[in-house]
Amino acid sequence: MAAAAVDDGETTARFEAEVRSWLAWCRALPKVELHAHLNGSARSSTLVELASGLGEKGLINFPEVQAILLKGDRSLAECFKLFDLIHLLTTDHNIITRITKEVIEDFAAENVIYLELRTTPKCNASVGMTKRSYVEAVLAGLKAVEAVQVISGSQENHKKVLGTTLSRPIIYVQLLLSIDRRESTEAAIDTVQLALDMRNCGVVGIDLSGNPWVGDWNTFVPALKLAREKGLRITLHCGEVPNPTEVQNMLLFQPERIGHACCLEESEWTSLLHSSIPVEVCLTSNMRTETVPVLQDHHFASLYKSKHPIVICTDDPGIFATDITREYALAAVCFGLKKANLQFLAQNAVRHIFADDKVQAELQKIFDAAAINPHEFTHRP
Ligand code: IMP
Ligand code: ZN
Repeated sequence: MAAAAVDDGETTARFEAEVRSWLAWCRALPKVELHAHLNGSARSSTLVELASGLGEKGLINFPEVQAILLKGDRSLAECFKLFDLIHLLTTDHNIITRITKEVIEDFAAENVIYLELRTTPKCNASVGMTKRSYVEAVLAGLKAVEAVQVISGSQENHKKVLGTTLSRPIIYVQLLLSIDRRESTEAAIDTVQLALDMRNCGVVGIDLSGNPWVGDWNTFVPALKLAREKGLRITLHCGEVPNPTEVQNMLLFQPERIGHACCLEESEWTSLLHSSIPVEVCLTSNMRTETVPVLQDHHFASLYKSKHPIVICTDDPGIFATDITREYALAAVCFGLKKANLQFLAQNAVRHIFADDKVQAELQKIFDAAAINPHEFTHRP
């Protein structure tokens, strides 16, 4: 990752030391995470434990799977093979509930105060899983969180929780349902229908993701239009690989946010800057999957210089061995940002969340309080 941007061990060590020097401050900063995939955020330790269980039953070759799970750098194509493997390990309602709980606790430990967690609803007849029961298992994970107080669902729920005496730090969690690019138009519409049914439970939007070499934009347009008509917010994985026609169509669709925007040609880049569509930037993910060759040359720098709205995100912290704190620290070191710049980026992310204005106002209050002294973060009761 960052080491690929530099030329020798000594420079890498210096770079890492500099990143490390930022970690405590970046951890204390309240943060908003808007681009994290549930299965890509699962703890490696949990995945290895699950693989070991399947290995003992003779269902997989454990040493082989463990080596794949713990491998460092991987290409974009290898990532999607890994997702298929992870999905084999997490094919069970209880496991989905467990990883959801752990993922939320991990983000909260990095002082994330608002998390939009996205996941692809899955059917699996062999374990009686439907897209709906999958999402219900995720919602059970929200309820199972112990380390912090999760605020989710309807405004009524928010009021109920905020009206009680809070003994734990809080984290707002909202869900985005992902359409996988392998899916048909009908399957994509099913996901949107499910999202609409589950709005009161904290589903606020739709994501389009999956292997960018697979699928065609037109397949997903009917579902995305339906989502828009009914008031769901939309974010699209856009420009992960060169695909000018698709990027143009995506930008014309005017989603509320896009993820990545790595492989844009000059004209698409100009369209993006004119559009002011916020970009979810995932530095380590882009480096690991080699969609951006050198971290220091990441388009973060151009977006930032153009004052284009950006949100620092992790994408798949489990897969890429990172966390949101490290992503902020990387931005500081690679692009020469100061504390005030990071603080601005973190707080400004609130403007791009998919939850309603009341949640935005609550979060702004937390940031305003923290801005007085980011080391004594005052949302903790
Ligand atoms: P899940 O939706 O919770 O199962 O999270 C994993 C899924 O997210 C993968 O199977 C992909 O469909 C999607 N995903 C995760 N990372 C990326 C990415 O970098 N690009 C595109 N899709 C991704
Ligand atoms: Zn992603």
